[in-house]
Amino acid sequence: MFPYEPSYPTDLKRVGLYLHVPFCKNLCPFCPYNRVEYQDTLFEQYEKSVHEEIELYTPHLKGSDFVSLYIGGGTPTVNLPGLLRILNHLKNNFSLSCDICIELHPANMETECLKELKQFGVTMLSVGIESTTDRILRNIGRNHDGETAIKSLRRAVETGFDAVNADLMFVLPGQSLKDWENDLNAVINEGVDQVSTYPLFSFPYSDLGQSQQIRSVKRPDSSLIRSMLKLTDSLLISSGYERCAVWSWLKPSMKKFSSITRHHYVGFGPSAASMTGKDFYVNTFDVASYAETLPKKRPIALSMAVDLRLEMAYWLYWRVYELKIQQNDFKELFGKEYSLESNFQNILKPFQRAGMIEKWNGGYQVTNSGAYWIHRLENEYSLNYINRLWGSCRKASWPKEVYL
Ligand SMILES: C[S@@+](CC[C@H](N)C(=O)[O-])C[C@H]1O[C@@H](n2cnc3c(N)ncnc32)[C@H](O)[C@@H]1O
Ligand code: SF4
Repeated sequence: MFPYEPSYPTDLKRVGLYLHVPFCKNLCPFCPYNRVEYQDTLFEQYEKSVHEEIELYTPHLKGSDFVSLYIGGGTPTVNLPGLLRILNHLKNNFSLSCDICIELHPANMETECLKELKQFGVTMLSVGIESTTDRILRNIGRNHDGETAIKSLRRAVETGFDAVNADLMFVLPGQSLKDWENDLNAVINEGVDQVSTYPLFSFPYSDLGQSQQIRSVKRPDSSLIRSMLKLTDSLLISSGYERCAVWSWLKPSMKKFSSITRHHYVGFGPSAASMTGKDFYVNTFDVASYAETLPKKRPIALSMAVDLRLEMAYWLYWRVYELKIQQNDFKELFGKEYSLESNFQNILKPFQRAGMIEKWNGGYQVTNSGAYWIHRLENEYSLNYINRLWGSCRKASWPKEVYL
């Protein structure tokens, strides 16, 4: 990826919007995301600039249909009035009438905050529970205990959104299989619609990676991942959930909470990425550099041209992650003249022969035995990508180039 400014997206039909709020009250050492410690003055700079960035895009997105607005972090509600002003701006300029999804932190989601989000039109929440065991939460440097996490989840479910997802992390330092079972049962008992589980990865550029002086991404022991995943799958399936992605389980016929699976999207805020079909680009990570660049021009740090083949591969990557590869979706998006078989024969055939995917509903689905291995494979790509791109963008506001 290189530092050039691609043209504005003008002819996007179905597009997702993303807003990144890069502030947290406590910086968790394992966290690979772009986040800084919350300060009023820095937030003011950030807020002013996000409004300017929205204005820059507004004339170009006039003809677009918006499929969702996703608000990620950081901790998006760390300054709720500021967030609501930005959301109002987005809603007014883009006439949004789509799902609005937000990531929440257990210590920043009081009842009043949840009510305001609901009143504003937020439809789906994800709460970063991580663990419900105090000892483990301390081990990973979280600033809340298990009771706070569970009570916050209860408030979210009681407020009544279309979907509530709980994020849990596993293979954590000091975590036994029994601790993990307790965590899963605790969130199931609160009646969440979806459970997402992530094994702890240590990135070299994260505070944890720096303190451990690791040079490349450290993966947890794979046999431990397997046994914890096996327990996760059997416990959630027996509690009435269905697997909806490699790391997520959802109650039947509920809406899926997902941050990463829109095809085309436009991102606002430091480190927000955009995928327009013609280009993939990412904003500078640094809040001050972001604020200095706006409103003169977009604060894009690195860009990459995307051709049809790459766009199709990107689509396939996320469909495999979601375990279903639908022929109709593919044709609808790329045109009737294309098919999964004519474009991905060299990938689909060997995976089918190895029993990792099978024919399903005119397309393909990832088999139970394939889910683990296919994701291990996908993970290597995404860990590499996150490590190279995010690592470089955290080091320099305007990196010279990054090879993915
Ligand atoms: C942006 S955070 C969630 C929202 C909120 N900031 C919080 O921490 O509660 C997204 C999720 O990614 C997961 N995550 C963060 N760092 C991770 C890591 N190093 N390895 C695996 N999962 C990670 C956690 O489950 C976390 O809840
Ligand atoms: S895990 Fe969440 S709260 Fe912790 S630093 Fe990352 S974004 Fe902030």
